[in-house]
Amino acid sequence: MSLETKPLSGSLGAEILGVDLAQLEAPEFRQIREAFLEHHVLAFRDQKLTPEQQIEFGRLWGELFIHPIVPHLPDYPEIVPIVNSGKSKSLTEIWHSDVSFSAKPPMASGLLAVSLPSYGGDTIFANQHKAYDLLSEGMKTMLDGMRAIHSGTGLASASGKRDAWKEHGQDHPVVRTHPETGRKALYVSPAFTVALEDMTLEESRPLLEYLNEAGHAPDVCYRHRWQTGDLVLWDNRSVQHYAVHDHGKAERTMHRITIMGDTPR
Ligand code: SIN
Repeated sequence: MSLETKPLSGSLGAEILGVDLAQLEAPEFRQIREAFLEHHVLAFRDQKLTPEQQIEFGRLWGELFIHPIVPHLPDYPEIVPIVNSGKSKSLTEIWHSDVSFSAKPPMASGLLAVSLPSYGGDTIFANQHKAYDLLSEGMKTMLDGMRAIHSGTGLASASGKRDAWKEHGQDHPVVRTHPETGRKALYVSPAFTVALEDMTLEESRPLLEYLNEAGHAPDVCYRHRWQTGDLVLWDNRSVQHYAVHDHGKAERTMHRITIMGDTPR
């Protein structure tokens, strides 16, 4: 089967046409892997995947990550259902890279659109390599070697597991180097980064605010408009994402898998 790769924006993202993820062959997977490293976010339309097939697709990339806080689909610990539970309870309407408060955050996530509102509920992705490249040389020099503290406190509390935060916190480099491409990327987010190491909260805050803004400037973003059956796979080492909750009480159900990653360096 021949694949076509169609870029979706000037910053990141590509659609892969002509593929059925339930029946992938090795040469196709190699092409998809190359496109993943180049475009950071891949969209596959019209995929009719059962939970087993989504899990099987995820396992082609590596061992699957079981979320330490958020509940999973009954019988499928590898799948986190992301269901509309109201704007005030949305856990994902904030910029983040998945589970960055863990020691080895997932390298990638794959979200399948199971049921969608008739409009709205997009997801925005931001290219953190580009965000880093656009910083001044002075800022890059200052960030070199700096580390930030990531915490799952907010997520644990919002998930009704207030005590879980005690177990989930980790420091990581502010600028991480992609283990496969060697490219540098910003690695802080408003959802999980609480402070910069060896600085007071007051000192950390303005710098983190600046970096968080730079991390999702319009010219580093791609906004995905979902169709039922879309499977979107993104590289958590290269992008942050934000789920737009503009669809009121309308149903939106997504199934997410995450693939284990390594220690950010
Ligand atoms: C997520 O944050 O992992 C899910 C994003 C979404 O529901 O669009």
